[in-house]
Amino acid sequence: MSNSSPRYARIVGTGSYLPPQRVSNADLAARLAKDDIETSDEWIVERTGIRFRHFAADDVTSSDLALPAAQAALAAAGITASEIDLIVVATSTPDMIFPSTAALLQQKLGVHGCAAFDVQAVCSGFVYALTVADAMIKTGAASKALVVGAEVFSRILDFKDRTTCVLFGDGAGAVVLAASETPGIIASELHADGRHVDILCVPGNVAGGKVLGDPFLKMDGQAVFKQAVSVLEKVARSVLEKAGRSEADIDWLIPHQANIRIMQGTAKKLKMSLDKLIATVDEHGNTSAASIPLALDVAVRDGRIKPGDTVMLEGVGGGFTWGAVLLDL
Ligand code: UT7
Repeated sequence: MSNSSPRYARIVGTGSYLPPQRVSNADLAARLAKDDIETSDEWIVERTGIRFRHFAADDVTSSDLALPAAQAALAAAGITASEIDLIVVATSTPDMIFPSTAALLQQKLGVHGCAAFDVQAVCSGFVYALTVADAMIKTGAASKALVVGAEVFSRILDFKDRTTCVLFGDGAGAVVLAASETPGIIASELHADGRHVDILCVPGNVAGGKVLGDPFLKMDGQAVFKQAVSVLEKVARSVLEKAGRSEADIDWLIPHQANIRIMQGTAKKLKMSLDKLIATVDEHGNTSAASIPLALDVAVRDGRIKPGDTVMLEGVGGGFTWGAVLLDL
C-alpha cells in the first residue's frame, strides 16, 4: 500500500465457536422446575425467539471460547497468528480481573509482542471493539487485527430469576480485520447514556481486589426493550447518512442477537425485508458481545453473505451503550 493511497480496514476472515452443551428451552424449564420456578418453551419462543443456548463447562473461560473462534477466523483469512499486530477482545465476563482476556488469548494463540486489550461495552462490545480496531488500522497503528467477542454469561446468571436466566448463553465470534485500499468499514458510530446504568447491570463491585455484593445480572427487560428499539433505528440512519448511503443499499442487517422481536422491529423501521435480517438468536440466545460476530460467521459460512455485500452491524446493551458499523464485505 503506498503512503498516498487511502487506508481502510476490511474483514478478511470470520470464525465462531459455541461450547458443546446445548440446552433447549425444555431442558432449562426442567432445571428451573426443581426450584419451583415456572417457565416454558412456548413463553420463551413467543417473547424472545430463543430455542437453545449453549453453556460452557465449569472450567471453561471466555478466552477458551475465544481461541477456536479466533483460529477459525485466522484460517478463513489465510494468515497465521504471528502476523496479527493487534488483539481486541470485547467481553463482560473476562477470565480474570486482570490480565485482559485479550492477553490470555494471545498466550493461547502461542504468539507474543502485539498489542492486546479488552473492551467493555456489554452487548455493544463487538461494535465498540470493531470501531476501535478500525480506527487503529486507519491511522496505521495496526495492520492486521483480531477482533473477538467472547462471553460466559452463564456465570453471571441468577437461575432463580426466570426473567433473565432464560435469555442468555455462552459463545464467541471473531473477525480478522486487515488494512486495505478499498473499504471495508465505511462508517460507524458509538454512543452511551450513563443515565440508564441501572436498567441492565451486574451490581457486584470490585473493592480492594475482592468481588463484593451481588455478582448476578439484573435487568428491567421492558425498559431495555424500549431503549433498544428507539436507539437502533436512529443509529442505523445516522451511520447510513455518514456513509452517504440509504437503507436500500444494505444487503444484510445483523443486530445484536438478544430478542427476535427487537430485531424484526428494527428491520421493519428501516423498511427492510425480513429476508435481509440475519437471526441466529434461536440457536444460542443472547451471547452479549459474542452475538454479532457469531451471526456474521454463520451467514458468511452458509453462503448468504457474499464478498462485496453491504452489511449493517448494530449493538445495544448495558451502560446503556449502543452503536452501529456499516461495512462492505
Ligand atoms: O443484551 C441486552 C439486551 N436485552 C434485551 O434485549 C432484553 C429486552 N427485553 C426483552 O427482551 C423482554 O422485555 C423480555 C423477553 C425480557 C420480557 O418480555 P416481555 O414481553 O417484556 O414480558 P414481561 O416482562 O412484560 O412479562 C410478561 C409476563 C409477566 O407475568 P405477569 O406479570 O404478566 O403475570 C412475567 O412475570 O411473563 C412473566 N415472565 C415469564 N413467564 C414465563 C417473565 N419471565 C418469564 C419466563 N417464563 N421466563
